[in-house]
Amino acid sequence: MKAIIYTTPGDSSRLTLVDRSVPDPAPGEVRVRVVVSGVNPTDWKAREGSGSAAGSVGESVPNQDGAGIVDAVGEGVSHVRVGDRVWLVIAAYQRPRSGTAQEYTVVPADRVIPLPDEADFELGASLGVPALTAHRALTVAEDAPDRLHPGALRGRTVLVAGGAGAVGHAAIQLARWSGARVITTVSNDAKAALARAAGAHDVVDYTQEDAVARIRALAPDGVDQVVEVAVSANDALNTAVVRERATIATYANDRGRPLTVDVGQAMRLNLRYQFVLLYTVGAEAITRGAEDVNAAIRDGALPIGEAAGLPLHRFPLERTADAHDAVQNNTVGKVLIQVQQP
Ligand SMILES: NC(=O)c1ccc[n+]([C@@H]2O[C@H](COP(=O)([O-])OP(=O)(O)OC[C@H]3O[C@@H](n4cnc5c(N)ncnc54)[C@H](OP(=O)(O)O)[C@@H]3O)[C@@H](O)[C@H]2O)c1
Repeated sequence: MKAIIYTTPGDSSRLTLVDRSVPDPAPGEVRVRVVVSGVNPTDWKAREGSGSAAGSVGESVPNQDGAGIVDAVGEGVSHVRVGDRVWLVIAAYQRPRSGTAQEYTVVPADRVIPLPDEADFELGASLGVPALTAHRALTVAEDAPDRLHPGALRGRTVLVAGGAGAVGHAAIQLARWSGARVITTVSNDAKAALARAAGAHDVVDYTQEDAVARIRALAPDGVDQVVEVAVSANDALNTAVVRERATIATYANDRGRPLTVDVGQAMRLNLRYQFVLLYTVGAEAITRGAEDVNAAIRDGALPIGEAAGLPLHRFPLERTADAHDAVQNNTVGKVLIQVQQP
């Protein structure tokens, strides 16, 4: 089978197309014939030897997300069968050879999620890191439920920082599907159009407007929860617009200095900072998130593509290095690799 590998950390020129034998699943594992691989910032960070998924030296296959068809199941696996369409989550976490940039991968069964009929493989490969991170960030707030469904966030105002980003896009869609009022921030008009297409009720250009004044005007009682991509850069903004007992759930510190908390102000607000890392949320949170994401897909609430606020950028497997560079260079939208035909 064709596989993309790297053996030492570094730039994308390390990514090499090789031929490897198809691996067999052990008990509790599933072999998936990968159709589409999804690329996220964590993948180039791991390849460079940084980020939360950086790890072992030796042969590694990049990319955590993907979608395909179950090809073989190990003993004891019952929730999927050969021939099922599935999507994958954290495929390569602590399993360097299980990345999705190859024609077949073997992963533990709890990382294999049935793909609803309503979803194609491109949507399936766009879900893992963005959608489950967004789900986690939306379900860790005070007084908020740990499951999402229509009405789950009714009456709550959610501020999504960076609504044109991949996680921001999923957070807007999931919050909207769950009945929240959704405000988002962006840095230009093109990103504003994408965030609106994703379903945000209100879009604030934080480079052009007084974001605090605008968000305060939109939500006079304060924001209930924040889904944050730049916790340090946005701390002054967030603490100025949240209500008492709000939660700032942060999954990144882009452009970040270390976070300095004004303890007195945070205490006055009874504020919660919740840090989110998908790799360590645990199997139960992943299962809950995947079930809710699949329900949202069945409701047609998680479309991708430019008209839905997430432009797609497609590469063949041979050009995985270009796909990595596209993500590393902050391409707006979702970068996908067509590994093979279904
Ligand atoms: N903790 C986790 O489990 C987890 C999961 C997924 C992703 N991440 C990390 O989260 C980051 C984003 O991932 P992604 O896939 O969503 O990337 P992406 O698609 O490149 O989106 C990043 C977005 O952040 C926005 N942004 C940056 N600084 C901002 C600020 N001060 N205010 C508002 N928006 C800001 C950017 O827009 P502008 O530049 O236009 O502002 C951009 O739209 C990456 O660092 C990634 O590694 C972490």
